[in-house]
Amino acid sequence: MSVFLRFWTLVANILCLPLHLMEAIGLYAIYKRIFPFCLYRISFKYNEKMHDKKKELFRNLSEFEKPGRPLTILEIGCGTGTNFQFYPAGSKVVCTDPNPHFQNYLKTTMKENQQLTYDRFVVASGENLSSVEDESVDAVVCTLVLCSVSDVRQTLREAHRILRPGGAFFFLEHVAADPSTWSHFFQHVLQPPWYYFGDGCWVTRETWKYLEEAGFSELKLRHIDAPLIFMIKPHIVGYAVK
Ligand SMILES: C[S@@+](CC[C@H](N)C(=O)[O-])C[C@H]1O[C@@H](n2cnc3c(N)ncnc32)[C@H](O)[C@@H]1O
Ligand SMILES: *[C@@H]1O[C@H](CO)[C@@H](O)[C@H](O)[C@H]1NC(C)=O
Ligand SMILES: *[C@@H]1O[C@H](CO)[C@@H](O)[C@H](O)[C@H]1NC(C)=O
Repeated sequence: MSVFLRFWTLVANILCLPLHLMEAIGLYAIYKRIFPFCLYRISFKYNEKMHDKKKELFRNLSEFEKPGRPLTILEIGCGTGTNFQFYPAGSKVVCTDPNPHFQNYLKTTMKENQQLTYDRFVVASGENLSSVEDESVDAVVCTLVLCSVSDVRQTLREAHRILRPGGAFFFLEHVAADPSTWSHFFQHVLQPPWYYFGDGCWVTRETWKYLEEAGFSELKLRHIDAPLIFMIKPHIVGYAVK
């Protein structure tokens, strides 16, 4: 990392001292109540811009359906349920998120998507899905979640564990920009405030590296430029088969 970049990242960190302090004394937890409200609004815009990408990605979910029973999808960090509209009709969805304050928005989205059946809402982080049995789902979905988990490796290990052999992990995630770009520079400098406003989101994660190392038998991964602001423009999309 260049000295220039280090300097400006330090400046950003100093400006964020009050926020760091709030987190240290536990005040940041209040934001967990406000964030679902913000996300509910932001995600309409995101879905509008990413509609075709999501449609193309989730069309491939049906390939993992076994004859004679509904496709079982478990979503890690489901948030307000922005992906439900893209799931094949008749699928069974298990929702998980560590933030219980999403429940009301989730209920609204469920009502709007009655072509699916909903198994349950589990309040759990991706790192610990212990209430979900081994090899019990056909697909696991993560969209804009691996940027926020505290342990990507452990989350992928859990996803792999609960997938049946031949099942797939579907992802759509924003990632770190190419180091030669200004986006990369600003991602690093603006990371400290972004972390707080984005509910613990890291824009500087090279998430594809974790996916390459997660022990899936097949990985379909593409780097794309999303039609979004530079901070979250670089995305990866695809799926990994167990
Ligand atoms: C930007 S939101 C995305 C929500 C939803 N997946 C979507 O695409 O609209 C990030 C979500 O990840 C959840 N999250 C944060 N930390 C997590 C963790 N350790 N494990 C699972 N989910 C987590 C948050 O509660 C939030 O719902
Ligand atoms: C979906 O599957 C088709 C056919 O296998 C493949 O060409 C395409 O790249 C897949 N889409 C995504 C987003 O991975
Ligand atoms: C995982 O979560 C369960 C509750 O769902 C808890 O009993 C268990 O201690 C947790 N395991 C770890 C390693 O944190």
